[in-house]
Amino acid sequence: MNVTFFNTKVYDQQFFSEANKDFRHKLKFLEVPLNENTAVLAKGSTAVCVFVNDLVNKQVLQHLAQVEIKLVALRCAGFNNVNLKAAAQLGIKVVRVPAYSPYAVAEHTLALILTLNRKTHRAYNRIREGNFALNGLMGFDLHGKAVGIIGLGKIGLVTSRILKGFGCRVLGYDVARSKEADEIGVEFSDLDNLYAQSDIISLHCPLTPDTYHLISDASIAKMKDGVMLINTSRGAIIDTRAVINGLKREKIKYLGLDVYEEEGDLFFEDLSNKVIQDDVFMRLLSFNNVLITGHQAFLTIDALQSIAKVTLQNITDFEQGKELVNELQA
Ligand SMILES: NC(=O)c1ccc[n+]([C@@H]2O[C@H](COP(=O)([O-])OP(=O)(O)OC[C@H]3O[C@@H](n4cnc5c(N)ncnc54)[C@H](O)[C@@H]3O)[C@@H](O)[C@H]2O)c1
Repeated sequence: MNVTFFNTKVYDQQFFSEANKDFRHKLKFLEVPLNENTAVLAKGSTAVCVFVNDLVNKQVLQHLAQVEIKLVALRCAGFNNVNLKAAAQLGIKVVRVPAYSPYAVAEHTLALILTLNRKTHRAYNRIREGNFALNGLMGFDLHGKAVGIIGLGKIGLVTSRILKGFGCRVLGYDVARSKEADEIGVEFSDLDNLYAQSDIISLHCPLTPDTYHLISDASIAKMKDGVMLINTSRGAIIDTRAVINGLKREKIKYLGLDVYEEEGDLFFEDLSNKVIQDDVFMRLLSFNNVLITGHQAFLTIDALQSIAKVTLQNITDFEQGKELVNELQA
């Protein structure tokens, strides 16, 4: 099947080309993101393959339908950027990769926690400059601390398991209670209790109307003084302005982000020669207790191999009229 890929980087092209040896689809790799102006570039393909910040709203879907696109294949798990209702109305199917490597994201979450705590990023720079002073590098034992996990799905559970290995007490909140969480020893909790008791809070729920700005002035007020907040899920789960206020008041003592609510204008591009216009983002960068990575939690060899394989299998299943096990329904 002819497939147009939007928003691709070298690593996408590399991993998809390699995996495609087993599938033999005709892949067209574009670097431009999908939006109303670029949708027309998919002409000649039956499917488009898109990533987290590609815009798949009603207008874009209408443009895709006009060039006879029948399938949108997301090469990611989250799908908050897709208007599923509009896709259904236009007869366009949407598939995703529900699970590629929860370990990739969970382990990156731990990287953020450990770096913020033990300040290895600052130590690295100091030592290179011949500064062996330890002032300002003090951390705390993770052992015995309470960590609140919001969203006990695949990634939240792996994160919980790792934290249990560190000897942490893990409190978890989810809209649905799972047996697996109980087996790991996660203490199921309501949100208010989780906010009140957790030394570290890590977000692993999807971005939905219910979770939009879940972390707000009101929820931050319920948290422990000096809390560490980690978000590797989706940026808009956090109200960034509320978090900046929390950092200024030192209510939040550490912030680790792999995602940012306005990341679409920044992430995945080299802007080092440009003036960044996002003042909120620049304010975040001014805190020495804020660590931001540019949506890289998924970026492991294992995850990319799995994403490529599952995405191409989704496309093959569609081509062969098989049941779409990874279809998203409106
Ligand atoms: N940073 C990255 O590179 C990256 C990579 C993959 C996924 N993600 C994000 O991680 C999120 C979690 O991924 P996953 O694979 O664990 O998904 P999942 O579907 O396995 O788990 C999500 C969990 O959140 C729960 N949930 C839904 N609504 C909730 C709410 N209102 N409050 C609390 N919990 C709620 C669900 O019941 C489910 O258990 C994804 O939605 C995606 O946004 C980020």
